[in-house]
Amino acid sequence: MFLCAPQGQRLLLSQVAGCVFPLVAMLLLLLFLLLSPQGCSARYDPTWESLDSRPLPTWFDEVKFGIFIHWGVFSVPSFGSEWFWWYWQKEKRQPYVKFMETNYPPGFSYEDFGPLFTAEFFDANQWADILKASGAKYVVLTSKHHEGFTLWGSKYSWNWNAVSVGPKRDIVAELATSIRNKTDLHFGLYHSLFEWFNPLFLYDASNVFKTRQFPTAKSLPELYEIVTKYQPEILWSDGNGNAPDTYWNSTGFLAWLYNDSPVRDTVVTNDRWGVGSICKHGGYYTCSDRYNPGHLLPHKWENCMTIDKWSWGYRRNAQLSDYLTTEELIKQLVETVSCGGNLLMNIGPTHDGRIDVIFQERLRQMGDWLRVNGEAIYGTKPWRTQNDTVTPGVYTFKPKEETVYAIFLKWPISGTLVLGDPKTIIGETQLIGHKGQLKWVSLGEKGMTVAVPQLTPNQLPCQWGWTLQLTNVK
Ligand SMILES: *[C@@H]1O[C@H](CO)[C@@H](O)[C@H](O)[C@H]1NC(C)=O
Ligand SMILES: *[C@@H]1O[C@H](CO)[C@@H](O)[C@H](O)[C@H]1NC(C)=O
Ligand SMILES: *[C@@H]1O[C@H](CO)[C@@H](O)[C@H](O)[C@H]1NC(C)=O
Repeated sequence: MFLCAPQGQRLLLSQVAGCVFPLVAMLLLLLFLLLSPQGCSARYDPTWESLDSRPLPTWFDEVKFGIFIHWGVFSVPSFGSEWFWWYWQKEKRQPYVKFMETNYPPGFSYEDFGPLFTAEFFDANQWADILKASGAKYVVLTSKHHEGFTLWGSKYSWNWNAVSVGPKRDIVAELATSIRNKTDLHFGLYHSLFEWFNPLFLYDASNVFKTRQFPTAKSLPELYEIVTKYQPEILWSDGNGNAPDTYWNSTGFLAWLYNDSPVRDTVVTNDRWGVGSICKHGGYYTCSDRYNPGHLLPHKWENCMTIDKWSWGYRRNAQLSDYLTTEELIKQLVETVSCGGNLLMNIGPTHDGRIDVIFQERLRQMGDWLRVNGEAIYGTKPWRTQNDTVTPGVYTFKPKEETVYAIFLKWPISGTLVLGDPKTIIGETQLIGHKGQLKWVSLGEKGMTVAVPQLTPNQLPCQWGWTLQLTNVK
């Protein structure tokens, strides 16, 4: 202000105004930019073209590993699969029909399982500790599966939600609170658009989705409700019910989510928003269940898979051989990450709220592995090649540090590891978790050999898979 005052003269009101006004206007503009809801970020139109142009919030690619939780009324029969209701009553599959005939009185309906979903051992703080110990950096809970039962006290799911029936608790709220209070995991929610047997959905389906009673009265209000109440940072949509995204008004909802919702800056979504959107529109791509393409994709993607090979929901009659081993899970993780994906590994809790000890052990062992090898996973990028041409194993890369990580899944008892792909290495080679440099020899165009330390099994830095850190490699 004083810069404008003519030296040695008294300030005239007009001079002050002429000088102060532009300053005030500039301050107001600055304040507006800082405080306005959209800040400086773009606004999106309710079209795929516009929505697909939104950059994926960067945290998602950095974290690499999440835990999926399938929990609901299907966890009460905990037989066959979380598709129990459909297989039993719609497809009338023999094992399901027989299971009901043998174990339940005649006339027992799926709704009768609701009060048996008791969750008496559900301790969200304990779940948070277990999830954290796995090394995962996000969690996705089924807020509602195709059965329609909501794990929160939804206004739109009368008498078919966890606050009114069964646990009589708001499961979503409890887990969100514990995750946020006790861990640095990002909290995400799965939500099924359609419901197998909802009369409104069946009515719309019978009209070939020319009517839109169900999305208007049920799925859209639910989506707005969970986003405003629980502010999930991942919205994992599923179950299009063979209806197009126009029926679900997915683009209208996503435009709100990206422009005006409380999570507009950080939320990440997937690609399951109506027939034809999968692997094509939305946030990151899931493409299919257990998607693991084995090559680099130009778009961020996620491999959602299950520890129990046959089911997402808990199965009481699962055999030990039905569960992937820790070795197999780590293979999934490193293959996925080397090709630019995230791994979303599923567990199914029991009806009474326990994470079965077999899942706990798998989760903790993943965490043990990541505590040693995590620097080759978190925050990495794919390298110029994804797996080695000589030794079974994969590569990840940290461009800034000029560090390549070679992850191999079998310990070379010969004492020598041959890597076919690093052509020229100028820097050093180390085994992560083991002190000291390793000796290596260049084979020119054929790669290099590395002398691994002679270690007994209990001297190895970890079980199931090891990482060589190579600096300055081409
Ligand atoms: C958060 O965690 C602390 C320490 O574990 C605990 O004392 C506190 O009650 C928790 N807060 C909530 C809201 O759960
Ligand atoms: C779709 O959602 C948007 C955003 O909430 C809304 O403005 C629009 O009216 C909806 N369209 C239909 C057909 O429901
Ligand atoms: C590379 O990985 C993909 C998928 O993980 C696999 O199909 C392929 O056989 C691997 N190639 C080599 C040379 O190991």
